[in-house]
Amino acid sequence: MSAIVVTGTDTGIGKTVFSAGLTAALQASYWKPVQSGLEEETDSQVVARLSGRPVLPEGYLLQLPASPHLSAEAEGVEIDPDSLDLPQVDGVLVAEGAGGVMVPLNREMLYLDLFARWTAPVILCARTQLGTINHTLLSLQALRGAECDVVGVVFIGEAEADVEQTICQFGKVAHLGRLPMIVGLRSETLASDLGEVQSAFPGGRSGADQPGGRSEAGTEALAQAFATHIDIDTIKKALQL
Ligand SMILES: Nc1ncnc2c1ncn2[C@@H]1O[C@H](COP(=O)(O)OP(=O)(O)OP(=O)(O)O)[C@@H](O)[C@H]1O
Ligand SMILES: [Mg+2]
Repeated sequence: MSAIVVTGTDTGIGKTVFSAGLTAALQASYWKPVQSGLEEETDSQVVARLSGRPVLPEGYLLQLPASPHLSAEAEGVEIDPDSLDLPQVDGVLVAEGAGGVMVPLNREMLYLDLFARWTAPVILCARTQLGTINHTLLSLQALRGAECDVVGVVFIGEAEADVEQTICQFGKVAHLGRLPMIVGLRSETLASDLGEVQSAFPGGRSGADQPGGRSEAGTEALAQAFATHIDIDTIKKALQL
């Protein structure tokens, strides 16, 4: 088995969408060690919907949408990093962190420490919006300080050629491509785009748990964007595939 870690400069920047594209492209399995926040579609559900690939059960499923250490404490749980070894799968495992690299798992350990323990190659996802140079360079410094093997940076959003180049130059890091914003990825958007929410899902089901059907549009759009924009060969090389 080989594993690859997807982390990012911040929360809500597109790690899960990228992970879904990567999981599909590598015909891999996906794992989210700690899911904080259960109100909306979980990261595992998004990846299952957009990749159609196997998704392993989370190590911890926590109600509160907050840093894992705080979500855990709110439920009287302590996250035990020893229980978060990479699960064994046939083929490749894509493991997604939460938020950014210096997010605490408990009062003693950051995600960064877990990544270092895993010794798996890491992809850093970064926004292209204002503020990203600082966030991305700091995240790279932290990853390297922990002796993580950084495969490169994936950008997400509208093209910002100079910004992307500046990051790669100062960060001495590979540019693994830029995933543009893709229309129709959210299950609710897809359903309402088609104007069928009520009739298709009278019990309130969204496209997220509808096998096949409208989720296929998002899957196809993501696979196409991924194939066009992401340097999968460099990622495969890092995994010795
Ligand atoms: N390439 C994209 N095209 C269209 N929408 C996107 C794209 N990337 C992310 N989004 C949207 O932005 C939102 C946040 O994305 P995502 O859940 O992937 O972020 P994240 O970095 O995984 O967040 P978290 O830290 O909570 O795990 C979602 O609504 C997602 O659908
Ligand atoms: Mg995510």
